[in-house]
Amino acid sequence: MVQINENYLKLKAGYLFPEISKRVKNYTQSNSTKDIIKLGIGDVTEPLPKACTEAMAKALNEMGTDEGFKGYGPEQGYLWLREKISANDFISRGCQISSDEIFVSDGSKCDSSNILDILANQNTIAVTDPVYPVYVDSNVMTGRTGGPLLDGTYKGLTYLAINESNNFLPEIPNNKVDIVYLCFPNNPTGATINKGELKKWVDYANRNESLILFDAAYEAFIKDKDIPHSIYEVEGARDCAIEFRSFSKNAGFTGVRCAYTVIPKNLQGTSSKNEKVDLWSLWNRRQSTKFNGVSYIVQRGAEAVYSSQGKKEVQGLIDFYMENAMIMKNKLQNAGFKVFGGDNAPYIWIKVPDKMSSWDFFDYLLEKASVVGTPGSGFGLSGEGYFRLSAFNSRSKVIDAMERIITI
Ligand code: MLT
Repeated sequence: MVQINENYLKLKAGYLFPEISKRVKNYTQSNSTKDIIKLGIGDVTEPLPKACTEAMAKALNEMGTDEGFKGYGPEQGYLWLREKISANDFISRGCQISSDEIFVSDGSKCDSSNILDILANQNTIAVTDPVYPVYVDSNVMTGRTGGPLLDGTYKGLTYLAINESNNFLPEIPNNKVDIVYLCFPNNPTGATINKGELKKWVDYANRNESLILFDAAYEAFIKDKDIPHSIYEVEGARDCAIEFRSFSKNAGFTGVRCAYTVIPKNLQGTSSKNEKVDLWSLWNRRQSTKFNGVSYIVQRGAEAVYSSQGKKEVQGLIDFYMENAMIMKNKLQNAGFKVFGGDNAPYIWIKVPDKMSSWDFFDYLLEKASVVGTPGSGFGLSGEGYFRLSAFNSRSKVIDAMERIITI
């Protein structure tokens, strides 16, 4: 019989979001008349920008003509899209990221897992706690950790607690860690990092020859001027960081699928023979072998994000969700909840009341208010006692959900 990858058996339970869906499904089966409001998974709800749908419709029509038909595109993404990304997302912010350092893909979730393909298993790894579960699970699946410990953590990983006492900013480890995952604006806590704090991480990484995997999927939600949108705004980051970006949350592409990863050409790793190897070449080789690129139609949709109409419409979406976040934060704070995040990120991180556990609070909210959120403990040990609410929903549902929560 075929042998399985036993690392999968180390995974503690199902992936967090399917687990939530399962519980909600069970609940709806016995409470079919209740109208549930979902503020759990951070999935967008508003229609795509017109600029994007029009560009995609045009591209689709082109594909139906002799002159416009296209087969496989470049595995790295079409140059016209990569040039727009480079100019708008980086050069305009003073980051010297060129179009050929950008790899267009179908999602940051995949990229942040697939990147492990080009990195050795023996690298030591640090993640924040709480953390986006994909970083941990993808390391478990590829055999980079030991088994789960009784407290729910994995042997071999370094966990950097982020909590109220450190303002949800991870402390720099005293020892050397080879790979550090950082996500800012942070999922799940909604916290942000300023340039000075991020510089400390870049300096740590350069001092220790570590690699930072920087997830900036939520950068579009930043309102404060002094918060960097990209790690490359920090001097020295080109020597130590890979950045993941996504069109999912800004342009509402969760169902369309388009993202990109930045690998500076000078970024290096080492072989076991101490040879320096550039990571760009390895990732390019990986993508060329295992990936056939994002569809032409979708890339035209992503390109439209950078048109003047697209920029206006995307800003409209961001403003809409951030107003949701503000409404949620105000309502919950006025009702006595301790609330974090929500100022520069679409996530509200609340302290669970009455010493309940995160999953108890999840069940309580579902039962009493028919509102779904995400238990903080699903993001890690230090998430216990907290609860995440996503600002991605219609205005009326957000207001309704807040009324229900505060009047339980
Ligand atoms: C979340 O809710 O944390 C996100 O939707 C997950 C994701 O983007 O994959």
